[in-house]
Amino acid sequence: MTELKDVEAKLVEKSGRQSPDTNTWGDHSLDLWEPFIVRKDQIEAEAERLAALPMPNNGVRRTYFVHPRAEEGTLSFTPGISCSLDVLNPGEETAFVRQNASIIDFPIMGGGKVVMGEQSFSIKQYDLLTVPSMTVHKYVNDTDEVQVRLRYSNSPMLERLKVHWLDEDPPLPGQAEYDVTETAEEAGEAPQSPFGTFQLTDDGAYLKPYEELINPEPIEIKPHQWPWEKVKEELDKLAALGSKYKGRRLYLLYDPVTGRTNGTNPNFFSCITIRPGGIVDRPHRHASAAINYYFGGEGHSVVQGKRYEWKAGDLMLSAPGWAIHNHASDVGPVYEMTIQDMPFMINNDSLLWQEDLKGQISLLGSHAGFETNREKVA
Ligand SMILES: [Fe+2]
Repeated sequence: MTELKDVEAKLVEKSGRQSPDTNTWGDHSLDLWEPFIVRKDQIEAEAERLAALPMPNNGVRRTYFVHPRAEEGTLSFTPGISCSLDVLNPGEETAFVRQNASIIDFPIMGGGKVVMGEQSFSIKQYDLLTVPSMTVHKYVNDTDEVQVRLRYSNSPMLERLKVHWLDEDPPLPGQAEYDVTETAEEAGEAPQSPFGTFQLTDDGAYLKPYEELINPEPIEIKPHQWPWEKVKEELDKLAALGSKYKGRRLYLLYDPVTGRTNGTNPNFFSCITIRPGGIVDRPHRHASAAINYYFGGEGHSVVQGKRYEWKAGDLMLSAPGWAIHNHASDVGPVYEMTIQDMPFMINNDSLLWQEDLKGQISLLGSHAGFETNREKVA
């Protein structure tokens, strides 16, 4: 058991205005992490190196891409998101594992399958798959090719909160402790307390008893897969929106269970974008951080006034939270898969978004959002 020392609170005074002048729009408090690019060559060389290692004791061949500013003990790509390169050689499989982090897998080479309890998902290049929190799962390579995946997790956010829980000896399917996801309906009982929740004040403040506090109505977060073949067919239709279209040609890979938070899972959204050549986005910014993996074409981004060139096979921290940025496709079509911690930010009621730098800042999810000109160009 972890032993605890006796400690005392520090007293830190912060009375009075915190900003040096009146026109900083709150930006004085920002400490932006720098964008960076992990190049295709670097990714391929690391995948080869991992594949050549003796098989690790749990079968996991994994290297995290860590931002130089990540604090000790966190494996951050962005402050809240990790991104690792995972490799499985033909015929290999990993041990079962579970953790309280939400995971997205994006195979970039080869394929195989992901086993989650009694379910098994076949994966191949660019088929995005979610692995829900606390799902006992393992990765299998039953093909003749090396399997290489990008694996995104919200573990750095949990590491910062000191509550990232990783169970490398999880209960297995068939064992008594395994089935924790049984819904109340399946168990034959509605999650209702005989001691009700009731309204306390006229303006809508309520009181909820302990019995309901420790038994919130569960929403089952299921794993989902978005096969690239199907996504691409829909995406390519967006290429037809002419050059006057001011929105972005993308689809959010959406799980409706995440509701208004627009999630692929409860922490992340993933979207896949097609950019015909010569499209330049308007500069904008958002409190969510964005990681782009490019797998078609080439182009450049401008982040806080600094230019970054990228091409297919590159992985980039392309929008540190609240950094002003835009992307441009120089050789199309560009395909890119983006991961952002937008649902996490909406759940926290913290998702500032500014679509037009001359326009207002909105709190997406609680305040009115923005519009495009799609109706006019359609
Ligand atoms: Fe953006």
